[in-house]
Amino acid sequence: MSTVQENLNYKQYVVDSNLRYFKPHATAVEATFAQEISSSLGRSKKFISPKFFYDMRGSDLFEQICLLPEYYPTRTEVSILKKMGNDLAAHVKSDTRLVELGSGSSVKTRILLDVFSRVQDSTEYIPIDISEILAESSELLLRDYTALSITGIMDSYEGGLEFLKQYDSRQNLIIFLGSSFGNFSPEYGHLFLQKMRSAMKPGDLFLIGLDLVKDRDVLESAYDDSQGVTAQFNLNVLLRINAELGADFDLGNFEHCSVYDAENQRIEMHVRSLADQMVMISKSGLRLELQKGEMIHTEYSHKYSLPQIGCMLRDAGLEVVRTWTDEKEMFSLTLARRPART
Ligand code: AVJ
Repeated sequence: MSTVQENLNYKQYVVDSNLRYFKPHATAVEATFAQEISSSLGRSKKFISPKFFYDMRGSDLFEQICLLPEYYPTRTEVSILKKMGNDLAAHVKSDTRLVELGSGSSVKTRILLDVFSRVQDSTEYIPIDISEILAESSELLLRDYTALSITGIMDSYEGGLEFLKQYDSRQNLIIFLGSSFGNFSPEYGHLFLQKMRSAMKPGDLFLIGLDLVKDRDVLESAYDDSQGVTAQFNLNVLLRINAELGADFDLGNFEHCSVYDAENQRIEMHVRSLADQMVMISKSGLRLELQKGEMIHTEYSHKYSLPQIGCMLRDAGLEVVRTWTDEKEMFSLTLARRPART
């Protein structure tokens, strides 16, 4: 166990017998944020990775988004998960471990833990999440699930998958819900699924929740809600850069902007500069010049068709076991497996 820690430069924090965390050393994490912002805002097409949305306030705003009347994905996915429980239980063995990318809305995790508890006396759960909210949600889970042990990995998905690869030989069911995969470009998405496949042992399972293509109106109101929560969520990333990287973004000088690009099947989110302005980001060593109307890209949210989902998984060497959807085909969950010999 300690070799995992040494090899990958993680520090282990043991809270009690049911709960521990692995976390990369803090200085390395901070340097990465400053450097990534420096390169992504330093180029002509300015960009901030959506993975930086999720500080404490950003995670909280996202939880609020999930409850909005316009934002259908969360409640639709939850309804599918509830309905597919029995089907999924057939794939869970007595020692299958639940691994989750993103510590997510605990509602979904709980539905799956309930499925596991029908098959298992005790369950091991490994959430992988870059946000400190991981600690909070783990402790909440342990209050209600006494036969649960949690090993949290506070890291990026890629880092967490690397960690998992070297961890042990138990079977994993890895879940990646909420259409978070939709953030990735098609190119990176393919790479990511290949990483996923290589992190999986033969027989391991992967359950992915993906949003489906639908009318523009429905999509655009889901990403520009009437209460302005999505706008706050989007602009919050600038506040985070202010706080953590010593920047001076003035939020009065920016607005939220999101449109559906039907050809590329994705919502594109930006923050738009409302003035010619200059912003200093001291820890990135960046003096940012922005023109009135200039956009900083913050997020893609891709939408898929069911055949496309099958193709993507197979292209990465995974085998589709089954797909579930809601009646209106708004959202999908697909179970895939790493084949025994490839
Ligand atoms: C967490 C990436 C799935 O794309 O729907 C919600 C993030 N952005 N509203 C999504 C988000 C704006 C969300 N994902």
